[in-house]
Amino acid sequence: MPLTEARPLLVVNCGQLLTLHGPRRLRAGREMAEVGLIRHGALLIRDRMVAMVGPGDRVGRSPDARRAVRLDARGKVVLPGFVDSHTHALFAAPRVEDYVARISGASYSHIARAGGGIRASASRVRSTSERVLTERLRNVARLFLEYGTTTAEVKSGYGLDLVQEMKMLRAIRAAAEGAACELVPTLLVHEIPARYRNKRARFLQLVRQKLIPQAVREGLAEFFDVFCDRGYFSLAETKELLGAAAGAGLKLKLHAEQLARTGAARMAAGLNAVSVDHLDHLSEADIRWLRGTRTIATLLPGSVLHLGSADYPPARRLVDGGVPVALATNFNPGSSPTLNMQVILSLACSQMRMTPAEAVTAATIHGAYAVGRGDQAGSLEVGKQADLAIMDVEDYREIPYFFGMNHCTTVIKKGRVVYRRGLG
Ligand code: NIG
Repeated sequence: MPLTEARPLLVVNCGQLLTLHGPRRLRAGREMAEVGLIRHGALLIRDRMVAMVGPGDRVGRSPDARRAVRLDARGKVVLPGFVDSHTHALFAAPRVEDYVARISGASYSHIARAGGGIRASASRVRSTSERVLTERLRNVARLFLEYGTTTAEVKSGYGLDLVQEMKMLRAIRAAAEGAACELVPTLLVHEIPARYRNKRARFLQLVRQKLIPQAVREGLAEFFDVFCDRGYFSLAETKELLGAAAGAGLKLKLHAEQLARTGAARMAAGLNAVSVDHLDHLSEADIRWLRGTRTIATLLPGSVLHLGSADYPPARRLVDGGVPVALATNFNPGSSPTLNMQVILSLACSQMRMTPAEAVTAATIHGAYAVGRGDQAGSLEVGKQADLAIMDVEDYREIPYFFGMNHCTTVIKKGRVVYRRGLG
C-alpha cells in the first residue's frame, strides 16, 4: 500500500525523533546511551531512503518537503524500526506441553531428554509441508511489523537433517520474497538428529560436506550458527563446523554460554563471529576478552524470563566494559515465545539495568550490525534505508516503562507505509 513512489514522503510533528545518529561503526561504552534525539523533528524520505532529518522547521523548508506527501506523527515518538537479530521464527507448532511441564518443575534439559524440546519441534516440521511453513512465516513477518520490527533474522534448525533443513531454508526464502519485513536467513545446526545419536562424527561430516555447500550453492543462508552448549554441540565439534561454514563464505553467529559456561563465546569471537548470543553464564574474564574483539554480545532476556531462570546475562557489565551489546527476542516455541521487541527492552531495563537509551541502541543500530546491515539500517541518517516506527508515547522511555504493551501505530519500511494500526 505505497502512499506514493514518485513523491517524497515527509514525516512531520515527531515529538521525539530518535535518529541514532553516530559513528558508522558499533557503539561502545557511553556511546550506547546516545540516541540522537531531536525534539519536534521531521524526516524527509525520497527513493526509499532518508533524504533529510532534523528539526521540523528546517526540514519543512526544503523544496522537496513542499511537494511531499505528509504523514503526521502527532507529537509521538519516531525511531528506527527494530532489528531483531536472533529468532527461530519459523516453526510448525507451539510447545505448550513443555511450558506446562516446566511450570511443574521440569528443566529445559530434562524436557529435551524426555522427548520434548528441539527434537519435538523437528518432528512437527517434518510433517509440515514447505508451503505451509512458508505461509506460517509470512504471517509472522506481518506480526513483526505490527510490533515495530522492520528486519528480522530467521534461523533454520528445526529440520536437523539435510532434507528438512533445506526445506526450512527454502521456506524462509519464499516467505522473504515480497514480505515487507526484511528476513535474514541463518543456517542453524541445533541438535543431533535421533538417528545419528551414536554417530556424531558422521553427522558433522554430513553438515560440512553436504548441508553447508548446498545451502551456499542455492544462496539460502547469509549466516551460520551452532547451538554450542552442555548437552548439545561441544566446543571442538562447533569449531569444526564454524571453520567449514566460514570457509564456504558464511558469516558466523553462535549460541553460547546459555545453559552453562563452555568457553564458546571466546572461541567464536576468535573466529571473528559477527555475534555471540545468549551469554547467560559469561564470566568476568570473558567480558574483558570480548572487549578486544569486534564481536557483538547479543542478549536474549526473553528466554530467561520464559524459562523461569534467574540468570540474566551481565548486560550492565558488558556495556560498562565496552562490549557492544545487541538485544533480540529469540522468538521460538521452546524458550521465548514472543516477537515483541518492546518487551525485550523492558526486560533489558528492569532486569539487566540497561538504560532505555542503551536498550534502544541495542535493538536498532546494533541489531542491524548483528545481521550485517549496519550500513543500511538501524539509524535514521541521510543515505540509509527509511525504516522506522511511530510509537504512541510522548517519551521514548515509556516504551520499556509501559511493559507488555504494543505502542507501535505506524511502520515505514524502505520508504513505504507498510503498517498503520487499524488499517492492517
Ligand atoms: O535460543 N538454545 C537453543 N535454541 C533456542 C531454543 C530452541 C527451542 O527450545 O526450540 C534458544 O533458546
